[in-house]
Amino acid sequence: MGLVRIVCNVAIVTLLQVVFGQSSLKEVLRENALSPTPWRPLALTLRGHMILAQITDFHVRTGGRAYGVVNTATCLAAAVARLSALDPQPDLVVATGDLTDSGRPEEYELLREILRPLATPVYLMPGNHDDRETLRQAFRGYGYFPAAGFLNYVVEAPDLRLVALDTVVTGEGGGMLCAARLDWLERELRAAPERATAISMHHPPFRSGIAHMDAIGLDGADAFAALLARHPQVKRVFCGHLHRAIQTGLGGDIVASTAPSTAHQVNLDLRADGPATFIMEPPGYQLHVWDARGACVSHTGFIDAYDGPYPFHDIAAANAR
Ligand SMILES: [Fe+2]
Repeated sequence: MGLVRIVCNVAIVTLLQVVFGQSSLKEVLRENALSPTPWRPLALTLRGHMILAQITDFHVRTGGRAYGVVNTATCLAAAVARLSALDPQPDLVVATGDLTDSGRPEEYELLREILRPLATPVYLMPGNHDDRETLRQAFRGYGYFPAAGFLNYVVEAPDLRLVALDTVVTGEGGGMLCAARLDWLERELRAAPERATAISMHHPPFRSGIAHMDAIGLDGADAFAALLARHPQVKRVFCGHLHRAIQTGLGGDIVASTAPSTAHQVNLDLRADGPATFIMEPPGYQLHVWDARGACVSHTGFIDAYDGPYPFHDIAAANAR
């Protein structure tokens, strides 16, 4: 089914380019993104490699700032503007949980409005601040959430298979990969052993050394790592939760990583008794660039505007000579 879609998209793109040129293609991309159908690999098929943008831990809320400090909705709107300005555009955006602060319907309504300007399909997954059923209902028209049970799903892209795993335990800060979720993952990975695969989920399957975050870590991480060892097509595990850019090995060639939040960051404090605090370090996003061989290079970018860019030579001095 996915392959048919891709072939159809390529044919449509080629026809549009021949008949109308590149500007019409951009209009098609925009129309597609605003529809609830999630996957449109048009830009990818033209460029030859794939850019997966990761944004995470928005904590969108209505009626006041998070913790009395952070206007998380404004922060996410800035992230959407930053992603929209990227050239080249990402082929898809994955959001690795804590989409809202309290999991309330009005927060998901606001989330949908803030994400609407993105001209790239967005794939959501829940974090411990989300409510699974409210999220499912709010985005049921997007087509990738199952009708019941955990919010696990697979995205089939030409050079990458993205497997989204729901790690949430209702009412808990920590996450879990229970037997049912691991069985589902095993079945999905067995189904496509030749396809380069990334897994995305909220709770990272490793200890960070930040004590208060490790206290709400992932139950089942060892079983998860043992499972992945049987499936070498898995190259990367993309997570949220830690509100910082952190990477580690997970056995074999697998790299597991977390991305900065679009809002507030967890304070970098490696003391065993470090308190649970956050800090307004620069909000960020990541771009994971995949080539056709399944190799991935990851970049961390920042959302705020900074001075520059400048060329690596002094133009004023050169003009004065
Ligand atoms: Fe979070």
